[in-house]
Amino acid sequence: MKILPAKKIRTEIKVPPDKSISHRALILSSMAGERSVVHNLLESGDTLSTFQVMKEIGARFSGDFERMEILPARWREAVRPLDCGNSGTTARMISGLLAGTTGLHILFGDESLSRRPMKRVIEPLKKMGASIFARNDDSLLPLSIKGGDLRGCVHDLQVASAQVKSAILLAGMKAEGITTVIEPAPSRDHTERMLVSMGAKMKIDGRAVSIERGELNPVFFQIPGDVSSASFFVVLAILHPDASITIRNVGLNERRTGLLRTLKKMGAEIEWMVEETSPEPCGTIVAKSSRLTGLEIDAGLVPSMIDEIPLLALAGVNAHGSTVIRGAGELRKKESDRIASTIENFGKLGIGIEEFEDGFSVEGPQRIVGGSVDSAGDHRIAMLFTVAGILSEEGIEIAGSDSVRISYPRFFQDIAEVCR
Ligand code: S3P
Repeated sequence: MKILPAKKIRTEIKVPPDKSISHRALILSSMAGERSVVHNLLESGDTLSTFQVMKEIGARFSGDFERMEILPARWREAVRPLDCGNSGTTARMISGLLAGTTGLHILFGDESLSRRPMKRVIEPLKKMGASIFARNDDSLLPLSIKGGDLRGCVHDLQVASAQVKSAILLAGMKAEGITTVIEPAPSRDHTERMLVSMGAKMKIDGRAVSIERGELNPVFFQIPGDVSSASFFVVLAILHPDASITIRNVGLNERRTGLLRTLKKMGAEIEWMVEETSPEPCGTIVAKSSRLTGLEIDAGLVPSMIDEIPLLALAGVNAHGSTVIRGAGELRKKESDRIASTIENFGKLGIGIEEFEDGFSVEGPQRIVGGSVDSAGDHRIAMLFTVAGILSEEGIEIAGSDSVRISYPRFFQDIAEVCR
């Protein structure tokens, strides 16, 4: 895909439904005791992985992703290995679900997912009594789970990961006694919010979340737009010299808005208004051409913008002064090593960024002339360099641009609309 520069950007858009919340809606509604109805589910590579795996293990879905009815699952042993595709959320959350479900299951994923750490979820589930075996000393997919009786316990997590927290909470729903997860820093809380709305027996006390076995009420949910998908348009508007973008009906959960807060601190002309608070905060973002100043970013904000940090490198390239981020080592464990794939690709465009094990430092402003990059099969890297291409002088060619199907299948159509 060759991305060409655009002179002017004025638009109002709606971004696709939230990916994280869509995964949770598909999984949790199947655990309810009665029929659920969910509106506006994301239909993309990752959520289709969850949808297919859930069907294989007995979930009952009807309708389409705009309006889906979900009947209580009739859990069964799948007759073949479960393909989690590229999706870490599918592999980790469904491991938690299967740990307490009778039967033997094998989970596998694509090459990228097979490199991503699974010990962080295998160890706590084993501590609860699950029988799990996995490749490379129980650390990588494929893995096999023999679900059965679990006992609740306290888990003090080493990394702030919503996927791990969610997997443990799902296992905790099936365990004897109380299961508690303590996070080192607050990660996204969509699972907790949905479980609370379903009447789960839960206690949330700062960074500690506890859950007990119990019946779940059905889910009636309208999923908001994905703020992570919106972020590409936000950064485009801010960095472009003649732009204004309004994004409506987008999720604005505080645990996801770290990028918006950071851009504002860098001097961005950006506003976001929460218009609804239930079941998830949701509203409008307006972003305009801005002059940014470099910033040393608070590492405490990392979990609330974990998927958006590569965009901060682009913001830093355009900002005046230095932009530094540390404490973001988790980026190396995503669909690609996002510290390396961001810096290497900027390097191919002649833009220098200093690499740290847990972050980077960039001096700006630097010119983006153009050239060729490679997404490394990572949807967020493909979308990042699309934005860079629109801001460039001569355009950017992206190899592996089809990876956008993982979270945002219509990304290039929407981009074309915005740049008209
Ligand atoms: C997600 C949590 C984050 C995020 C991922 C989606 C989720 O991962 O990077 O894109 O839906 O729970 P971690 O839990 O590994 O931080």
